[in-house]
Amino acid sequence: MKAIIQDRFGSPDVLQFVDVGKPEIGPDDVLVRVHAAALNPHDWHILRGDPYIARLMGTVGLTRPKPRIAGVDGAGIVEAVGVNVRGLRPGDEVLGRFEGAFAEYARAVADLVVPKPARLTFEQAAGVTMAGQTALRAIRDAGQVQAGQRVLVNGAAGGVGSFAVQIAVALGAEVTGVCSTGNVELVRSLGAAHVVDYTKDDFTDGRVRYDVVQDNVGNQPLRRLRRALTPTGTLVSNAGGSPDGRVLGPIGAILRLVAVNGFVRQRLRPLPDKWTRAHLLAVTELVEAGRLTPVVGSTYPLTDTAAGMHHLERGHARGKVVVTVT
Ligand SMILES: NC(=O)c1ccc[n+]([C@@H]2O[C@H](COP(=O)([O-])OP(=O)(O)OC[C@H]3O[C@@H](n4cnc5c(N)ncnc54)[C@H](OP(=O)(O)O)[C@@H]3O)[C@@H](O)[C@H]2O)c1
Repeated sequence: MKAIIQDRFGSPDVLQFVDVGKPEIGPDDVLVRVHAAALNPHDWHILRGDPYIARLMGTVGLTRPKPRIAGVDGAGIVEAVGVNVRGLRPGDEVLGRFEGAFAEYARAVADLVVPKPARLTFEQAAGVTMAGQTALRAIRDAGQVQAGQRVLVNGAAGGVGSFAVQIAVALGAEVTGVCSTGNVELVRSLGAAHVVDYTKDDFTDGRVRYDVVQDNVGNQPLRRLRRALTPTGTLVSNAGGSPDGRVLGPIGAILRLVAVNGFVRQRLRPLPDKWTRAHLLAVTELVEAGRLTPVVGSTYPLTDTAAGMHHLERGHARGKVVVTVT
């Protein structure tokens, strides 16, 4: 099968389009014929081995990217199922966490794969898993957003932000999205009642205070983010951005958040890495109900995955960047 492999750390230019064997599946896995796969900042962190501390922690590979076939997010059709798998059959249309999504076939743990909502194309479905469940955990779980609250989403036009705005709106919040001029109409179309164009205004100037601020960008110091909160408001940082550079990445910012949280009335919450099938099903239920529609900002053929990765790395993706496989 054709696949995009990453045999050494580096820029997206080290990605290669090659022939490799089809993945083997275990008893709890499914084999999926991939139709579309989505890019995430996670992919370029793995490719670059960035931040360096992640190499020592074993999360991106020590001397070369782990795994060899790139990509974790996808949608496709089940080709085969392991002996222990119940509830999924060959021919089912699915989305989920794939191991090596930038390929014609991918292995996936069956528990992290769910039925694709019929109203979505494969391209739309491909971007649901990582960005959708992250946004759900940030808004519903960590943010505990309630109807009527004022919620601000920083980075509202991006992969996570475009889901976060819609999920907060679905929960009945009055949502403000922060983005650049060219994305104001997009963010409004997602249901945001207000949009702050960060090229003209600063949401941390203290003029408006929010019950929940969900930060996907990491470009503001903590004291300014706190100034945008009510006295008992909640900040949810998904560890976006790398304020401490390529060595420690977001770790310093997370530790600061946790340390300051102990001394203030505001709730300052980093987002844990863990998610479950229940999160993914909750996201696809919102999609089925028509309350959440993934935004696909750009698509690339599998052969041009590196171009998609360069685009994502520049930090101004609109919604999801998607690779079309078949
Ligand atoms: N903790 C977790 O489990 C988890 C999971 C997924 C992602 N993340 C992290 O969350 C972050 C966001 O991920 P993503 O997938 O949403 O990334 P993304 O799709 O690349 O987001 C890019 C967005 O950031 C916006 N942006 C750039 N500069 C901005 C600024 N100064 N103010 C406001 N918005 C700005 C851009 O909007 P404009 O084009 O309008 O500038 C663009 O829409 C990443 O750092 C990622 O590593 C964490």
